[in-house]
Amino acid sequence: MKTRIFIKFIAGLAALITVALVMIGLLTSRVIDSKYMASRWRELDEKASMLEASGAASNPESLPAMARAAGVRITLIARDGSVIADTATDASHMENHAGRPEVIEALAGRKGASIRRSNSFGTEYIYFAEPVPQGVLRLSVPLAEVREEQAAIRRRTLESAALAFIPVVLIALYLAHNTADRLGSIIAYAGELANGNFHARLRDLRSGELAILGRKLNDTSAKLERTVQQLQTEHTELEKLERIRKDFVINVSHELRTPLASIQGYTETLLDGAIHDEKNNIRFLNIIRHNAERLARLTADLLALSRIEMKTQQFRFGHYRVNELLADVIDTIRPIAAKKRIELRQELATAGAEVYCDSEAIYQILSNLVDNAVKYTPELGTITIGVKPYTTGNAAARMLELFVQDTGIGIPVEDQSRLFERFYRVDKARSRELGGTGLGLAIVKHLVRTHGGEVWVNSEINKGATFFFTLPVDEFEPQSQSELHPEFTAS
Ligand SMILES: Nc1ncnc2c1ncn2[C@@H]1O[C@H](COP(=O)(O)OP(=O)(O)O)[C@@H](O)[C@H]1O
Ligand SMILES: [Mg+2]
Repeated sequence: MKTRIFIKFIAGLAALITVALVMIGLLTSRVIDSKYMASRWRELDEKASMLEASGAASNPESLPAMARAAGVRITLIARDGSVIADTATDASHMENHAGRPEVIEALAGRKGASIRRSNSFGTEYIYFAEPVPQGVLRLSVPLAEVREEQAAIRRRTLESAALAFIPVVLIALYLAHNTADRLGSIIAYAGELANGNFHARLRDLRSGELAILGRKLNDTSAKLERTVQQLQTEHTELEKLERIRKDFVINVSHELRTPLASIQGYTETLLDGAIHDEKNNIRFLNIIRHNAERLARLTADLLALSRIEMKTQQFRFGHYRVNELLADVIDTIRPIAAKKRIELRQELATAGAEVYCDSEAIYQILSNLVDNAVKYTPELGTITIGVKPYTTGNAAARMLELFVQDTGIGIPVEDQSRLFERFYRVDKARSRELGGTGLGLAIVKHLVRTHGGEVWVNSEINKGATFFFTLPVDEFEPQSQSELHPEFTAS
């Protein structure tokens, strides 16, 4: 590519120089011809004057020597036109010259000149005639000689012009090579772009229009690279969302199918006669009730989740005393904890400390966390519910940190990051046995984020788990959930 551009440059340059030389040749040869002719006339005029002054006309014998010395042919013509002497041929054989244009002029007393074919030699001559007392003194030179000299001068002029072009050609070659080089790399770069390699950049741009073009191409590829990356990220994100959506549908169907199948099975057994089997009928009915309750819990949790996600849940934000919010939950949970002889502790905030929240949502969050704590803590354990100032993280917003700590079975580290996904459970069978749906923590995460807060867990297996979440102290503008976290709807 580079060599092709270079060859085109050179061809163009050669054409340009040829045209320039032809033009120079044409223009200078005209000037040279007319100047040269004029000087030849002048020379002949001067020579004629000198010959006349030296009395050559009255002494025809001296003419040949003078003609040799002056480098001209001399003809002496009488007033009647007859040739008295000629230094190039025998005068006696020459016809009457009275009719020759230069002779006519000289006979009339003026200087005469003409260029024409010589009758005596058959070739062209330049004639110059001057009146002398004897008649006419005529000097002539063959035109061919003059033409030869003119051609020589023209040749020399052209040669010097061509020589003068050498530095021009060298500079042009250098520039052409340089430009071809840079253009070549820009074209190669454009090829890279066309092939989708937006990673490449043009280096060593220097200055000028090519540099501007290079920079623009660099900008373009940077933009394209960013766009492609963005599209790739979005694509991956969409794929992830789609996978999660499919998993969710499969999970929901699966979760619904088990209790439904159980209800259907036991109902049929009862209808088939087991209703009269007094040993089993109540047990079967209890199983049916148990599964119906499970279905009710599942649908209630699914509804709660979808209401938050579809933003149909109306939140009523306000300033609430955080200690009162905790007390509400503790009061509810106390009898259940007492059954398992679990000690409930509180670490309250300073009196009057407030958070900006929806009190119903906070009740939902805390009761889900405390419910888990009771479920996953063996008898005689301890559950602590508390508040403390939130110190780490973004200092721009004032936050309080709420926590629910237990001394239960704990959560393996590898499960901790996925705990807040829908239907994710460390031990499915155990969760089901305990009446769990696997949706509690997903609801908690959504609700916390609606408040602009974060939720996380700290746990050591067999030592217990602590769930933390933050709540804003000051009033804030609740953002749409998907704006808050793009992956929000994903888990
Ligand atoms: N306090 C806790 N101690 C141990 N494991 C917990 C605790 N809280 C939650 N988990 C684990 O997280 C899983 C998800 O909790 P959650 O979403 O509330 O579902 P569910 O309680 O219905 O099983 C539980 O199944 C359990 O494995
Ligand atoms: Mg739960």
